[in-house]
Amino acid sequence: MKKLVLAIDGPAGAGKSTIAKLVAEKLGYVYIDTGAMYRAVAWKVLQTGQPVTDENIIQTAKDIDVRLRYESGALRVEADGTDVTESIRTPEVTGIVSQVARLLPVREKMVTLQRKMAENGGVVMDGRDIASKVLPGADVKVFLTASIEERATRRWREMKDKGYDVSMEKLKEEIAARDKMDTEREVSPLVRVPEAELLDTTGMTIDEVVAAVLALCR
Ligand code: DC
Repeated sequence: MKKLVLAIDGPAGAGKSTIAKLVAEKLGYVYIDTGAMYRAVAWKVLQTGQPVTDENIIQTAKDIDVRLRYESGALRVEADGTDVTESIRTPEVTGIVSQVARLLPVREKMVTLQRKMAENGGVVMDGRDIASKVLPGADVKVFLTASIEERATRRWREMKDKGYDVSMEKLKEEIAARDKMDTEREVSPLVRVPEAELLDTTGMTIDEVVAAVLALCR
C-alpha cells in the first residue's frame, strides 16, 4: 500500500504530539515533531548564555545541527550531539520558543530539514505550518484544536507529571500569548488550510481522536 504523508497542525496543547505519535505507531510510520526542532534552537540560544536577540537566534540556528532519531521506537531530539529530548520542555525554553519560530532564516532551515525527512512518505508530521507550507501536498491534513481551558488543563497535567508546579491561570495566559504570536506572525503563521479536516478534541478521548484521524487515511 502507498505510504501516506499526514500533516497535523494546531495550537499549543491541542494534543497534536500525543495523537501524531499514536497514529504513526498504528500505521508503522515515522512521527516527526517539528516543534521540537524550534525548541532545540531555543534551548541552544539559552545555553550560549547570550541575550535572546533576533541576531543571536539566527546565528544559533545557522550553526546548529538538529537531529531527530528513534531509540526503541521513541523519538529523541539532538542538538549538536547533545540529547535535549527532556531539556527542550522546560518553561524557560517554552518561554522563548515562539520568538525563535517567528524568524524567517530559522524557519527556512527547519523546513528544508522537515521536507527531507518526509520525502519517502510514511510520516506523520505535526506543527503549525505543515499543511500550509512544509508539506502542502500531504495526503491527509488535520487541524486539531480544543478549548483554551482544556488545552491549559492538559499542559498543567503534563507539567505536574514532570514535577513543575505551575498555576492554571498563568498557563492559560501563556498559551493564549503563544497562540497569538504563532497566529499573527508574518512568516508561516498557524492557519487551517481549507482542505484540512477540523477536529475539535474538547471532551474527546485520545482513542476517539486517533480513530478519527485513522478513518481519514482509509
Ligand atoms: O508544538 P510545540 O509547542 O512544541 O511548538 C513549539 C513552538 O514552535 C510553538 O510556539 C510554535 C512553533 N512551531 C512553529 O512555528 N512551526 C512548527 N511547524 C512547529 C512549531
